[in-house]
Amino acid sequence: MLGGCATGGFDFRTREALDMTDFRAPSMDTVRIGLIGVGHRGSGALARLCKIESARIVAVSDLYADRAEKGAKIITDAGCAAPKLFSGSEDSWRGLCESGEVDLVYVTTPWLCHTPMAVYAMRCGKHAVTEVPSAMTIEQCWQLVDTAEETRRHFMMLENCCYGENELFAYNLCHQGVLGELVHGEAAYIHDLRQSKLNPESSGGYQGQWRLAWTQSHNGNPYPTHGLGPICRDMDINRGDRLMSLVSMSSAALGLSRFAAQKFGSGSRAAKTAYRQGDMNCSIIRTYRGRTILVQHDTTSPRPYTRLNTISGTKGILQDYPLRVALEPNAHSWLPDNELADLKQRYGHELWREMGNIAKKNGGHGGMDFLMDYRLIKCLREGLPLDMSVYDAATWCSLVELTETSVAKDGASVEIPDFTRSGWKRD
Ligand SMILES: NC(=O)c1ccc[n+]([C@@H]2O[C@H](COP(=O)([O-])OP(=O)(O)OC[C@H]3O[C@@H](n4cnc5c(N)ncnc54)[C@H](O)[C@@H]3O)[C@@H](O)[C@H]2O)c1
Repeated sequence: MLGGCATGGFDFRTREALDMTDFRAPSMDTVRIGLIGVGHRGSGALARLCKIESARIVAVSDLYADRAEKGAKIITDAGCAAPKLFSGSEDSWRGLCESGEVDLVYVTTPWLCHTPMAVYAMRCGKHAVTEVPSAMTIEQCWQLVDTAEETRRHFMMLENCCYGENELFAYNLCHQGVLGELVHGEAAYIHDLRQSKLNPESSGGYQGQWRLAWTQSHNGNPYPTHGLGPICRDMDINRGDRLMSLVSMSSAALGLSRFAAQKFGSGSRAAKTAYRQGDMNCSIIRTYRGRTILVQHDTTSPRPYTRLNTISGTKGILQDYPLRVALEPNAHSWLPDNELADLKQRYGHELWREMGNIAKKNGGHGGMDFLMDYRLIKCLREGLPLDMSVYDAATWCSLVELTETSVAKDGASVEIPDFTRSGWKRD
């Protein structure tokens, strides 16, 4: 258990409150959590949350009883009290949301369940968080915004990449003026998931092969937020700037059927299936203040993992995979290793400075998942605004539908809604 941890001093917010941006709920001694969805991601979340003092997992739900029981075992093995279980039907999770013992509903299910579960949880008076993306349509984005505003409950998308060590270093470089005025960002989710997508549930694949099903019926960027979230935060999107419009195009869809033919034979069903999702989707966003953001998605090509994490301004650039920085007056070349190390020493984020070792020990993508959970529980306990607002979730997730709309119109420009209803403006 973590006791008396450093405060972190982590504040993404600027200036005074927007409607829900700086929303504070009453503080609480213990955050009682109900988690829905004990698959790959939910199991890891349970293990992490057990290690955070003042977080108590009181309820667990999964479609399948054996997964809910597996979740309970993770909790009791960590020395915590057994949770109440809700399972057996598509709707069992509703009982968890209705429970008077739960303060926060933590959703780690397939994409299409996220918004309905979060909206119901908020309507039951609970704070709600979901895995990424929180919403798959513009209508769902608005449902999250409207429900959080009406119920005055917190909603946050669990965008763990906003807590990455390199992303938070970039955040500090941007906010302390080292890169000058920001001009352009590049974000991506490039992760070879061919095997995971095709793996049947019975061999440890996604439940009901939900990710493959989406690939068969959509063509846009279904998973934009890992790269985009940190760039939006660097650019103070929804806090002084806003995403205005985007254009998007997709390549041909070759990767999955080629891979399936190699693995299962060219006559196999997986090889003969028509996949709609182009292997590479490229989108370009324009912001109100004239910045541009490239967002890429490719989960079906044989390529090394990258989120790009590139942010450039009038004085220099940071690029990731591998991490490097170039600064005026010598921005034609990347800083040598010793100068990069000095810069990291100077501008590394205090959350990592203070809690990096604990985070790495407790894990989750090198520690960033743990820092995200730690901050969530800390903010709820202390009655602070959360690091990311419902408007951030809606704005970042809006790309799911909007990229698909643009792709269908051969890359035509599409407007991005202002989910803050003008609250993003600053003097
Ligand atoms: N942030 C990250 O780094 C990261 C990493 C992996 C996955 N994810 C996200 O986490 C989510 C889950 O992914 P996963 O890989 O764990 O998927 P998974 O298929 O392994 O797990 C989903 C779980 O939800 C359960 N479920 C489905 N419908 C349900 C219902 N109606 N009621 C209760 N439980 C239900 C399933 O039985 C399963 O146990 C996805 O949104 C994914 O995008 C995020």
